[in-house]
Amino acid sequence: MFSIEVTNLKKNYGNLKAVDDISFKVKQGEVFGLLGPNGAGKTTTIEIMEGLRERDSGDIKILGLDPWKDGYEVHKKIGVIPQEFTFFEKTTPKEAIKYYASLFNVKVDADTILKEVLLDEKENHVFENLSGGQKQKTGLALSLVNSPEVLFLDEPTTGLDPNARRAIWEVIRRLKAKGKTIILTTHYLDEAQQLSDRVAIMDHGHIVAMGTTEEIIEQNGSGERLEIHGEKQLADYIQTNTELQVTYNETKGIITIPLKKKIDMLAALAAAEQSEMKWGEIQTHQDSLEDVFIKLVNEPLDEQKEEQQIEQKKNKKGRQ
Ligand SMILES: Nc1ncnc2c1ncn2[C@@H]1O[C@H](COP(=O)(O)OP(=O)(O)O)[C@@H](O)[C@H]1O
Ligand SMILES: [Mg+2]
Repeated sequence: MFSIEVTNLKKNYGNLKAVDDISFKVKQGEVFGLLGPNGAGKTTTIEIMEGLRERDSGDIKILGLDPWKDGYEVHKKIGVIPQEFTFFEKTTPKEAIKYYASLFNVKVDADTILKEVLLDEKENHVFENLSGGQKQKTGLALSLVNSPEVLFLDEPTTGLDPNARRAIWEVIRRLKAKGKTIILTTHYLDEAQQLSDRVAIMDHGHIVAMGTTEEIIEQNGSGERLEIHGEKQLADYIQTNTELQVTYNETKGIITIPLKKKIDMLAALAAAEQSEMKWGEIQTHQDSLEDVFIKLVNEPLDEQKEEQQIEQKKNKKGRQ
């Protein structure tokens, strides 16, 4: 039923509460995404689940076992790719698989595993000559050597170009289709959304939202709203002549009306028509996962930080 159960997990580094009382369960065969900005506590959480790090308090069951107390048993049943995975430079993926198989004392068909991660044509290139995506695929191949039931993937596509990221997604989807339970950490919203059955959004050691992306949006988003480009008089007219809750953005010239019932849309448009005033573009808008993320997490995502830094540089140049 549940492959993973985490209850009231806590981990401090000195005074820093890296993981501050989080709980979640992951069903067998599920892809569970831990989404959050850098420093949220994702790696700490995943390393504790893998039995690589000791927790301060809380309860964890991985396939019914305690990853710290029963570490040896757990390691036999899980596959792991650490963040920023790397390997011996002069080793080919095939040699790496054989090496891992000997460590685990298992017999494997390296070609089958390479096919599973879509890496067959690169089997004879040494690690240092592989592309970023091929290196990550090698990591995935190694995580499969012991035929694990549960896979832990820590930022599997960070730093890869869009095509390579999609290739890794494809491999992860194939592994899910084979019934693996997968825990995935990422700071990419699209990755969490594309791959995960359920997502936990982490920030400063806390889980601030959890569920399917639809559930997270429904619970934390502001719901559907109607936006009409128009003058303040029109906003006032609609406000006075309907029961609707109207807000007006002076700078943008946009009238916003939350759509609580289907009929609200009709009422708003009828009032606008009746006013005989002009209006421009009309659209409905619903919060995306990104909108909700920005609301819940104080820190912007890394890409957004980068964009802001580029913006700031541009502005500086402009002023010189
Ligand atoms: N070994 C460590 N010693 C001290 N602080 C750490 C250690 N590992 C992580 N941290 C800190 O704990 C917080 C959570 O880190 P981490 O679990 O790596 O988050 P994430 O993977 O979400 O980026 C960060 O503030 C980080 O600097
Ligand atoms: Mg991390």
